[in-house]
Amino acid sequence: MQKLISKFTETFGPSGLEDDIRRVIYEEVKNYADEVFTDPLGNLVAVRKGKDPRLMLAAHMDEIGLIITHIDEKGFLRISSVGGVTFYQLIGQRFMFANGTIGTVYHEKVDSFKELTWSKLYLDIGAANKEEAAAKVSLGDMAVFHHSFVDLGKRYIAKAMDDRIGCVILVELLKRLYGQKVSQELVFVFTVQEEVGLRGAKSAAYKLAPRYAVAVDVTRVGDMPEAPRMDVSLGKGPAIKVKDSSVICHPKVRDLMVKTAEKNKIDYQLEVLERGGTDAGSIHLSREGVPSGVMSIPCRYVHTASEMVDGRDVENGVTLMEKICLSPEWSSMGQ
Ligand code: CO
Ligand code: ZN
Repeated sequence: MQKLISKFTETFGPSGLEDDIRRVIYEEVKNYADEVFTDPLGNLVAVRKGKDPRLMLAAHMDEIGLIITHIDEKGFLRISSVGGVTFYQLIGQRFMFANGTIGTVYHEKVDSFKELTWSKLYLDIGAANKEEAAAKVSLGDMAVFHHSFVDLGKRYIAKAMDDRIGCVILVELLKRLYGQKVSQELVFVFTVQEEVGLRGAKSAAYKLAPRYAVAVDVTRVGDMPEAPRMDVSLGKGPAIKVKDSSVICHPKVRDLMVKTAEKNKIDYQLEVLERGGTDAGSIHLSREGVPSGVMSIPCRYVHTASEMVDGRDVENGVTLMEKICLSPEWSSMGQ
């Protein structure tokens, strides 16, 4: 699984430009599903055929990044964010474009870091003038953190753990369910454009019309020095979401998830995320409504170049999702 985490996190794929990561995921899922297709917006769907009720499982493929807003005469690139990027975390970081061009972010002179704004930042790709820059990149091009995966022992750091770790979990789950009998239909959806407003999941849920859904994403934790209060820690098991700013998880789906964890003696934590959202926020509002839950992998430093997860939470997350998919209770749950 570690190899998959390193491969998925190191692949390029900002919101709206998910071709590379979709290709990588497609190669992993193609032999384990009854049908695999890409929808008009670019969501990758792998179907395990079965009976009603259909259960949609979603993890987003896209990652946060930067976009070029202007190239100046001296060849410096002015930038804006794609998704939730905090500008003071960018100073000195390297970014890479789809064509492999790499640059580093710095800022104009400021007397205090409080004066930092997007307009004071620039990306330097080593171009001596506008022509040299324009030969490598164009207005509107997007870049992502250029940072490699590191194995710290039990924990890992990488860019884009949000939400390639969810993609890894769905891929592992699909492989684990291969050859096992699952009664209801499962649709595994690797969504696009989550980071800019849960967009891909919206059209995917409309097309697939699932009866229930479970999204898999990362969540913030409160176990670092002087961290904001948050009752989720690294290494204490996958989190079962109660609420974030995009969704109040359906009590029946949440209860099914909690009972499944308890029955199978899988460590879990309950999650209330005060700010942030995930694909379930779009999915549960599709058509006449789709009761939805979320399993979150605890993650430190979300939306930075080095997001940290604990490998044991990931392993337990796959097992919990496996048991959830195999639960007979979906067919008798009702609305
Ligand atoms: Co995110
Ligand atoms: Zn996410």
